[in-house]
This record gives sequence, structure tokens and C-alpha cells, in this order.
Amino acid sequence: MNIILEKIKNPIKKEIEKFEKQFQSIIIQNNNNISIINDITHYIIHRKGKLIRPIFVFLIAKMLGTIQKKTYHTACLIELIHTATLVHDDVIDNSFLRRGSFSINAIWKNKIAVLIGDYLLSKSLLIATNNNYYDLLKIICKTIRNMSKGELLQIEKSKKLNVTEKIYNQIIYHKTASLIATSCEAGARSVNTDEETAIKMRKFGIFTGIAFQIKDDLFDYEEKNEKYMGKPVGIDLIEKKITLPLIYTIQKASKKDQKCILNYIRHYDEKKRHKIINYVKKYGGLEYANRKMIKFRDNALKILEVYPEGIIKNTLKIMVNFIIERNQ
Ligand code: IPE
Ligand code: IPE
Ligand code: MG
Ligand code: MG
Repeated sequence: MNIILEKIKNPIKKEIEKFEKQFQSIIIQNNNNISIINDITHYIIHRKGKLIRPIFVFLIAKMLGTIQKKTYHTACLIELIHTATLVHDDVIDNSFLRRGSFSINAIWKNKIAVLIGDYLLSKSLLIATNNNYYDLLKIICKTIRNMSKGELLQIEKSKKLNVTEKIYNQIIYHKTASLIATSCEAGARSVNTDEETAIKMRKFGIFTGIAFQIKDDLFDYEEKNEKYMGKPVGIDLIEKKITLPLIYTIQKASKKDQKCILNYIRHYDEKKRHKIINYVKKYGGLEYANRKMIKFRDNALKILEVYPEGIIKNTLKIMVNFIIERNQ
């Protein structure tokens, strides 16, 4: 249990509890007692994540108005999309650990993981169609398209090793920040906020989401304990994913070092990991990524300034800081 996260959830405790019940029942309903689906969906609901996206939905809805039935539906829909994309992501990244347990592909193999991901995705879209939320469906479909686009761009770049900071920002906006932005925007829209506020909340989510992914990418270089993190550490390099600390390092390195780093990535094995990390340290790649992350955090916090002070706004600020200080 994370103490800061528990503190963040406190002002929306009842809402989160109700959300968790709804989320679980949506995942297990209409499974027609098909045992493979029952087994996997139960496995999934017993390994819950940090619930960052639903927390944003509820905090923003509560800051701007009164939480509605639609707010709960929005939170469930978004957490389902997130769950589905993680199931798919672990297939794509060939990763066997998620939330401290075996990933779906590790236990049931890729074919089943792909189908379960689709199954969860369809359940999420059904929440919107069953309730006639066509406005929500529109932003959700765009977000799913963006997430797939981000993952595909990332794969393309890992083949050619030609990632610039601009492309990196494009990748992480699409694959991660777009869903966090949608959580903030849709949370706002669920309480019938005005258009300008909804757009501002989206922007807040974009900045926060980019900071979130930079932090996630830093984990791979901070050599954190995999057991503690609940997911593998260092697999970005195995998959030839060049993230911000390394992009900066390659750009700043001497021609000789640059050649060496690219060679290490091309012919990567566990022994090269330490060497690459040493280059990143030599050229200040970690400090650079940290500085960038803090800039995005500050941009997010700036958007909140115009809203009246209160417990919910304060909790949102704590949440944004948690995103960049977290260890998980
Ligand atoms: C992990 O997201 C995937 C990324 C976008 C980096 P979270 O860190 O929010 O995952 P859970 O839900 O808490 O496991
Ligand atoms: C996160 O990507 C998955 C999505 C945003 C769809 P990563 O592959 O970078 O995240 P982790 O480290 O596996 O959670
Ligand atoms: Mg992954
Ligand atoms: Mg991935």
C-alpha cells in the first residue's frame, strides 16, 4: 500500500470504493461461464494497479462540480481501456511481469492475451454505447487510435534507432499522455463543465501524462528493484527503446562515444547495460530528463492556479507531485 496514494484517495474514498465494485462487476459480467474468460478476468481483478486514471476522473469532476453516474461510467471505461492496453503492451514488449505477478501472456501465451485485450476493450466501449454517451465515445475512440499510433511509432523508431526528442515527445503523448488527458477531460465533461474548462483540463492531463511517462522511462535507468516495481526493470533497452535520458546522451556525446553507444544498443546484452548507463551518467542524461519532467509538472500545476483553493484542488496538486516522485 502506498501511503501518499492513500492520502490522495482520502477525499474521494467513497467514490473510489463504489467505482471498484462497479469495475469488477463489469469485468466479470456476461462472461457466460466460459472458464478461460472467468479465470483470466478473476486474475486481472485481483491485481489492481494504482488507479491513477480513475483518481484523476473523480478529483477533477469533484473540483468542478457534483459527481454523477456518468463520472463512474467514465472512470470504469477508462480503467478498462488502460487494463486492455497493458495486456497488449506486455505482449508487444515480451514482458512477463505486471503488477508484481506474471503477465497474462506469461501464463496464457500471446494468442489469448491479444484476445483478452480485445475483449476488455470491447467491454469498455459498450459502457459508452449502452448509455448513449456518444460524446464520450468520440474522445475515447480518438484516444485508442492515438495510443496505437504511439506504440507503432515507437516500434518503427526502435528498428532505426533514430529517435529525436521531438519524436520521443510525440510517442509518449500518444501512447500515455493521451489517456491521462482524456481522463481529465472526460472527468470534467461528466459534470457538464463548459467547453473552455474541459479543454484546460485536457491540457492539464497532457502535461501530467508526459511527466508520468518520463518518470516511467527514468525507472529503467535508476536500476530500481524489479520486485518492488512490480514490472521488469531494464527491458526498454532489450527492446531497443531509446527514451529521453539516452536521446540526450546520444545527442551530447562525442562522435566516438556516440558510435560506441549505438553499437551497444544494436548488439545489446545484459553486460552492455551497465556501460550504456555509465554513458548516460557521464553526459547528464538523467538530470536532463528530470529537468524536463519538472517543467511538464510545473506547466500542469500552472493550469490549476485559476481554480479556487480547496481540499480537492490541493489533492490534485499532491497527485501531480506524486506522479514525478513515485517509486512505482
Ligand atoms: C503503466 O501505467 C503503463 C504506462 C503508461 C507507463 P500505470 O503505472 O498507471 O499502471 P498501473 O495501473 O498502476 O499498473
Ligand atoms: C506503457 O508503455 C503502455 C502503454 C502506454 C500502452 P510501456 O511499455 O513504456 O510501459 P510499462 O513499463 O510496460 O508499464
Ligand atoms: Mg511495457
Ligand atoms: Mg510498451
